[in-house]
Amino acid sequence: MKKVSLLAPGPTPVPPRTLLAMAQPLIHHRSSDFLEIFGRVREGLKKIFKTNNDVLVFCSSGTGAMESAVTNLLSPGDKAIAIRGGKFGERWTELLEAYGCQAINLDVPWGYAVKPDDVAALLKADPSIKAVYVQALETSTGVSHPIKELAQVTKDTGAVLVVDAVSALGAYDIPTDEWGLDVVISGSQKALMLPPGLAFVSIGPKALEMMKTSKCPKFYFSWAKELKTQSQNKGAFTSPVPLFLGLLDIFEVIDEMGGLDNIFEETALKSKAFKAAVAAWGLELYSKENASTGLTAVEAPAGIDAQDVVGWLKNKYAIFIAGGQAQAKGKIFRVAHMGFISEFDTLQGISAIEMALAGLGYKFEMGAGVAAAQKIFGEA
Ligand SMILES: Cc1ncc(COP(=O)(O)O)c(C=O)c1O
Repeated sequence: MKKVSLLAPGPTPVPPRTLLAMAQPLIHHRSSDFLEIFGRVREGLKKIFKTNNDVLVFCSSGTGAMESAVTNLLSPGDKAIAIRGGKFGERWTELLEAYGCQAINLDVPWGYAVKPDDVAALLKADPSIKAVYVQALETSTGVSHPIKELAQVTKDTGAVLVVDAVSALGAYDIPTDEWGLDVVISGSQKALMLPPGLAFVSIGPKALEMMKTSKCPKFYFSWAKELKTQSQNKGAFTSPVPLFLGLLDIFEVIDEMGGLDNIFEETALKSKAFKAAVAAWGLELYSKENASTGLTAVEAPAGIDAQDVVGWLKNKYAIFIAGGQAQAKGKIFRVAHMGFISEFDTLQGISAIEMALAGLGYKFEMGAGVAAAQKIFGEA
């Protein structure tokens, strides 16, 4: 058995102290001890989202929270813009159509960011559009969409802005209240350094108003029901107690890592070092604009299937990076910088990728990527 290294953009490594914090004898989810834990989780999440809004916790993966942002805001027949610059953007259309809403697809070429003016034009042309759905970080391409600017566009319209920050929250700054973001969604298994299983939704005043008239069917993911129960520090259903204990520990881990802003800087440094390695290999980023700091998407050399790079690392070294999805499959591989990934995990990943590229026949100077990244880390 080999030591497994997680360098894919989710799930990311969980700090050992957090694993231990979760390995405690189970307490009951209706006990007074757990109510106290739930209250601390609610307060801690507000700090991470940088909001005074209620942040709901769901026991699901991130997609559950995405679905809730369709079913709790819209009614069948309602129109909403789905910004589709990758696999996760396309998921908005699937969700909207599953509930009989009309998706207005704003297709953005993969590797590029949406232009806020294009969203403004669509909203101006049809004031009945009720929502704009977007990813902060489109994990399938490594591109960050301009969320602050999109919030300026939706601010004075009837439409709410729904931001999927599943891979962005905790990787770089997404200040919910400062930017006026109506709904922000995240999940436990990426920059928040926990196992999969928790999803979060911050709900602002404009979204709360829209919620009141929404007629899409909903049951487990009812915001109204959860807002009522979670205001009493409990979930409507059975809460995953160990994940809550883990999240409380993560709040302390974040403080020990120097706070969120320091984590953002460290993530950016790992990203800079990794991207320098990519340049040293003579390879291109897949993200042609707004390349995020949370992860890097790399175009495989001509003649090499990116899935073979991913497979090489997995089978030979038990290092998990991600391949491309859908139209990017075989063309790119993706490496995370978010969460509990150190400089040396990053160097290890770079070194392993070099061995894979060389093994697969790519001609380059072995060690050039490691040296480029070391230089960046060394000068920091
Ligand atoms: C941006 C983004 N949105 C949504 C999801 C879906 O989350 P989950 O797989 O937790 O349902 C992911 C997962 O990779 C993601 O990166």
